[in-house]
Amino acid sequence: KARVAIVISGEGSNMAALLYASRLPGSVFEIVLVASNNPQAPGLALAEAEGVPTWSLSHKGVARDEFDEALHEALTAARPDAVALAGYMRLLTPAFVERWQGRLLNIHPSLLPNYRGLDTHQRALDAGDSHGGCSVHLVTEEVDAGEVLGQLPVAIRAGDTAESLAQRVRLAEHQLYPATLAAYVSRHQDAGWIERQVDAIAATFPEVL
Ligand code: GAR
Repeated sequence: KARVAIVISGEGSNMAALLYASRLPGSVFEIVLVASNNPQAPGLALAEAEGVPTWSLSHKGVARDEFDEALHEALTAARPDAVALAGYMRLLTPAFVERWQGRLLNIHPSLLPNYRGLDTHQRALDAGDSHGGCSVHLVTEEVDAGEVLGQLPVAIRAGDTAESLAQRVRLAEHQLYPATLAAYVSRHQDAGWIERQVDAIAATFPEVL
């Protein structure tokens, strides 16, 4: 199984969705760490109750690069194949992103490339959009701009507020994130398997490749 670490700041409902999905029969990933910049995050307490290793460090009074270095070390010790940001509400330093690039995923509450950043639901309502939604994307240096791996639209209803829309988008996120993460880590494992076979053939028959 692919080893997945999750990074949260708050509620952790996406973390819970990923964790319970990982415990379904046939899951292709397991959760090896839940990390947070907020030692009081409710999601941490849930992870602990579920027997998942946790790590936390308050970001308050810690320089951003020092915090990211500490997070990097905690993640490295857990040897994850992928890191899933799930409601992690802090910007990451370019150095951190570079070290985890290609293995770092995020869930964002809009149909990217629409509404990067904050207040996504209010902005969709203000624009008169027919749908909000959520996206899982690879994290790159530019915020919410990496390759989109999966999306789920959510219809906007008459009378929706940012809160009511956010609540429904959250339900969609809980479906989208585990499915998209599973597809991503499977593709990578397949790619790794193919690479190893090619290496083995090249070693045995150097004249073939
Ligand atoms: C989710 O809706 C997620 O998409 C959003 O925060 C919420 C976290 O909820 N993330 C962002 O806005 C990232 N910029 P959760 O803690 O219950 O998973």
